[in-house]
Amino acid sequence: LAALAAVGLPAWAAGKPIVLGFSQIGAESAWRTANSASIKQAAKDAGITLKFADAQQKQENQIKALRAFIAQKVDVIALSPVVETGFGTVLREAKAAGIPVILTDRLVKEADESLWVSFMGSDFVEEGRRAGRWLIDKTKGGTGEVRIVELQGTVGAAPALDRKKGFEEAIKDQPRLKIVRSQTADFSRAKGKEVMEAFLKAEAGRKVDVLYAHNDDMALGAIQAIEEAGLKPGKDILVISIDGVRAAFEAMVAGKLNVTVECSPLLGPPLMQAVKDLKAGKTLPRRIVTEEGVFPAEVAARELPKRRY
Ligand code: AHR
Repeated sequence: LAALAAVGLPAWAAGKPIVLGFSQIGAESAWRTANSASIKQAAKDAGITLKFADAQQKQENQIKALRAFIAQKVDVIALSPVVETGFGTVLREAKAAGIPVILTDRLVKEADESLWVSFMGSDFVEEGRRAGRWLIDKTKGGTGEVRIVELQGTVGAAPALDRKKGFEEAIKDQPRLKIVRSQTADFSRAKGKEVMEAFLKAEAGRKVDVLYAHNDDMALGAIQAIEEAGLKPGKDILVISIDGVRAAFEAMVAGKLNVTVECSPLLGPPLMQAVKDLKAGKTLPRRIVTEEGVFPAEVAARELPKRRY
């Protein structure tokens, strides 16, 4: 091994642990916290040295972290990009340095797709469609307008853009279903509450039938706002959200949330496997899609004990 190192092979090839630089978005939601925990635990289990950088929701911090990883000559970079655009330059720098990049959770929008070797995570458009299909089914056979308010995720983030797109696509041939208000609440519980309060105020005197939130945290914040307005979430206003975190299942058991579309944050084990495969010279699939389900309130009590996040 010493001889291998002496001929200039990378550290991991000479028996040293693989070094992975991971740029995380922040800690905006229960999903994100579970995602970070999954990455850290899986790196430990796989014997991979993890350099973990929390960008606190700021793209400029992610770009800085990636530059630091390049300077430190890590073996692989994994990036969960806060927004879709603006990463081209730094990704080109990584490519020029010969460091492969794996995108996890969220995709970037770049014409040159050779800037990353693989993208692993959920199909956010399909999640939006699943939410829309659930609503179509739930309102089937009814009459009159169904007035929907939408809480969007972070502006410019792939899951916000895609979940909006998928939901709109699913309901487009349903003239009764109308999105009457739509605004970002940045995937956070506090903002979900704040924006829902503003929606209810602006809609005073008109009925809001449905809340579609791009994640559970925003839905949980909004549920508080609905209750404070003297209404019953889950009954007076149907609540649909995405992620499937434990608190969402608890809210369903309490009758306050109607359905959550699953988006798994447990990307640690597949990411570490991909890193090892890459360093063993294997070609990774361009796209690794996470398997997920839809959990309506009716199954929540049964599923709750099985939830891992
Ligand atoms: O990118 C995944 C999304 O980001 C999750 O749905 C949300 O909760 C998180 O903040």
